[in-house]
Amino acid sequence: MLITIAGTKGGSGKTTTAVCLAQEAAARGIDVLLLDLDPQGTATDWAPDLSKHLAGIRTGAEIRQVGAGHEVCIIDTPPGAAPQAAAAIEAADLVVAVTGLGPGDMKGLQHLLRMVDPDLIVPTRRDGRRAIHKHALHALSSRWSHLVTEPVPMSAVVERAQADQAALPPLSPPANAYRAIFDQLMAVRASNG
Ligand SMILES: Nc1ncnc2c1ncn2[C@@H]1O[C@H](COP(=O)(O)OP(=O)(O)OP(=O)(O)O)[C@@H](O)[C@H]1O
Ligand SMILES: [Mg+2]
Repeated sequence: MLITIAGTKGGSGKTTTAVCLAQEAAARGIDVLLLDLDPQGTATDWAPDLSKHLAGIRTGAEIRQVGAGHEVCIIDTPPGAAPQAAAAIEAADLVVAVTGLGPGDMKGLQHLLRMVDPDLIVPTRRDGRRAIHKHALHALSSRWSHLVTEPVPMSAVVERAQADQAALPPLSPPANAYRAIFDQLMAVRASNG
C-alpha cells in the first residue's frame, strides 16, 4: 500500500508526518518503507533505517516499483509543485494532505485540494494558545469533517526526536496524535476495500 504525504506549502509538517507514521508502522511490526522523494533528504536524515532516498524519481510507475516489496510504503514529497510530488500522488493508494493552521497554510491547502482529493487531512503544529489556529481548525472541520484528523500539537519533543534520529516519546502528545492518525489511515484503507 502506497501512502503519499502531500502539501504544497513548505514547512507544513509533511516530513514529520511521514516519519512519525512510518515509525508508528514499524513499531506495530509492519514491513514499512519510508520513501524520501525530497532532494533535501530530511526524512532520511531523521530515520535512515526506514528510508530510501530517491529524489530523482519522476514517474508513478517507478514509485510503485520501489514500494512493491513492502507491506506499507510512506512517501515524503518535496514542497511546491515538484514533479516527484505529482508522481507520488498519482501512484498513491491513499493521499494524506498535511497543513499548518496559519492563514498562509489555509491558502496552500486550498491550492492542493484543487489538484488532489485527499483521503485524510492532518492539521499539524497546532498551538493551543493561538486563536487563529482554533478558528482554522473549526473551519477545516466544518468544511471537511469526515477527512480531518485530530490535530498534531506543537511540541518540543518533535525537534528533539529529529535531532536524535529517534521516534517520538510514546506517551508524548504528538505521538498520541500520530498513533490515532495511523489507526484512522488503516480504517480508511479497510473501508476502501
Ligand atoms: N508537531 C510539531 N511540533 C513542533 N515542531 C514541529 C512539529 N511538526 C513539525 N515541526 C517542525 O517544523 C519544521 C517543519 O516541519 P517538517 O520538516 O516536517 O515540514 P515539511 O513540510 O516537511 O517542510 P519542507 O516543505 O521543507 O519539506 C521542522 O523544524 C519540524 O521539526
Ligand atoms: Mg519535508
